[in-house]
Amino acid sequence: MRICVVGAGYVGLTTATALADFGHDVQCVDIEQSKIDSLHQGKVPIYEPGLEEMIEKNCKEKRLHFSSYVEESIRDYPIILIAVGTPSKEDGSCDLSFINHVVKIIASTISDYKIIITKSTVPPGTNEWIHQTLVEMGIADDFFDIVSNPEFLREGSALWDIYHPNKLVFGTKTDRPVKVLKNLYKRGRAPYIFTSLTGAELIKYASNAFLATKISFSNEMARICDAYEVEYNDLARGLGTDPRIGRHFLNAGLGFGGSCLPKDLSSLKHSAISQKTETKLLDAVMEINHTQIELYLNKLSTVLPELLGKQITVWGVTFKPGTDDQRFSPAIRLIKQLVQKGCYVHTYDPMVQLEFSGVSSYLDQYESVCNSDALIIATEWDQFLKCNWLEVKSRMKGSIILDARNCIDGKIVRKQGLLYLGVGKR
Ligand code: UDX
Ligand code: UDX
Repeated sequence: MRICVVGAGYVGLTTATALADFGHDVQCVDIEQSKIDSLHQGKVPIYEPGLEEMIEKNCKEKRLHFSSYVEESIRDYPIILIAVGTPSKEDGSCDLSFINHVVKIIASTISDYKIIITKSTVPPGTNEWIHQTLVEMGIADDFFDIVSNPEFLREGSALWDIYHPNKLVFGTKTDRPVKVLKNLYKRGRAPYIFTSLTGAELIKYASNAFLATKISFSNEMARICDAYEVEYNDLARGLGTDPRIGRHFLNAGLGFGGSCLPKDLSSLKHSAISQKTETKLLDAVMEINHTQIELYLNKLSTVLPELLGKQITVWGVTFKPGTDDQRFSPAIRLIKQLVQKGCYVHTYDPMVQLEFSGVSSYLDQYESVCNSDALIIATEWDQFLKCNWLEVKSRMKGSIILDARNCIDGKIVRKQGLLYLGVGKR
């Protein structure tokens, strides 16, 4: 099949590459010329395991092409997959201006039947609106089909997720595109979920809202564990063995960040409000997440009451391990707060060199702790879990290790004479 993927961002690039790898002829377009130039030179603008090799292979085999000729490509390809960004506006609602822009291009170039697939996460009602807009712009509705096909890719394992989906969700208005849609992806044993356009949009929002709810629930439980001096990870293990609950997304810590969970929650809240529906649970989930940084700073102040002038090392800058993405990273919120409180912050992250006033970024994890009063683990990169604590101790001025991702065995750290603390950690 011939597919034009609009947007070479995180989702567009990984999806376009996988679709080409499945055997389709894929043109991936982006308005950002520099991004396309880099891709033509074989430079991949994001870090995703396996992506660079897969792009190289599919370009060589001529199934994957990159272009900044957005209008021409949209005009020439029969299947258009929209993967442009849908960021949050200042008020938390979803900014649909990029989607709008693409819809206008489609309307002005369409000359034969097209299947238009929305991959970007959009608020309920958006795909109906796209359909209506095209009709109002004079495009007969037997000239196109709109499909809502949300993605469920996790950064760091996006390609694995595309190859091993646990479901394929398609919202449609008619049965016309169904045959094509069934031949788009590698399915394995994943069920198809066919529903309405708005139904598919809500499945995506509900998924991310549920994952966020599990995280905030875990963080609330960790606070209670902390008060009773109980190890939260034991509780998570106990909970997680129940198949009705499951162990995934029960990790307590600094809270959730990234380009999806925070923005999708606030967008869903806005959509609900617009329909005069209350969102008490979502509000609590966001509130708990918002206060996690303060919680850990309070924890730090129990052993380091005066932060002004202190040297604090933060390990981890990305919003989670396995990616170079810093969007809405809780680690960065923490670093900014520490700087505001007058600390000299040292950072180390295997993927990111942070450039911020008041922050010194290091290339070596052990060098980053030199002369520090405290070390905070803000992202649970593997190398932190296996670190040499004796080496850390010998370089630090103080001895405080604050585990803000509940990822370290406190006993091992204490054995080296360091002071280990966390929330719900013994
Ligand atoms: C995606 C989805 O679009 C978003 O809805 C979902 O919730 C998360 O994943 P992401 O791929 O991370 O977002 O977005 P981003 O990295 O911002 O990439 C979007 C790309 O689209 C950019 O490269 C941008 O230049 C491009 N773009 C934007 C176009 O090509 N055309 C436009 O009109 C607007
Ligand atoms: C998420 C969804 O998982 C994915 O299905 C969707 O398509 C896009 O949004 P992603 O943003 O890549 O994926 O990250 P995810 O793995 O969900 O983690 C989000 C945040 O939650 C991270 O900051 C992570 O550190 C945090 N998290 C995750 C926890 O705090 N505890 C957990 O147990 C799991």
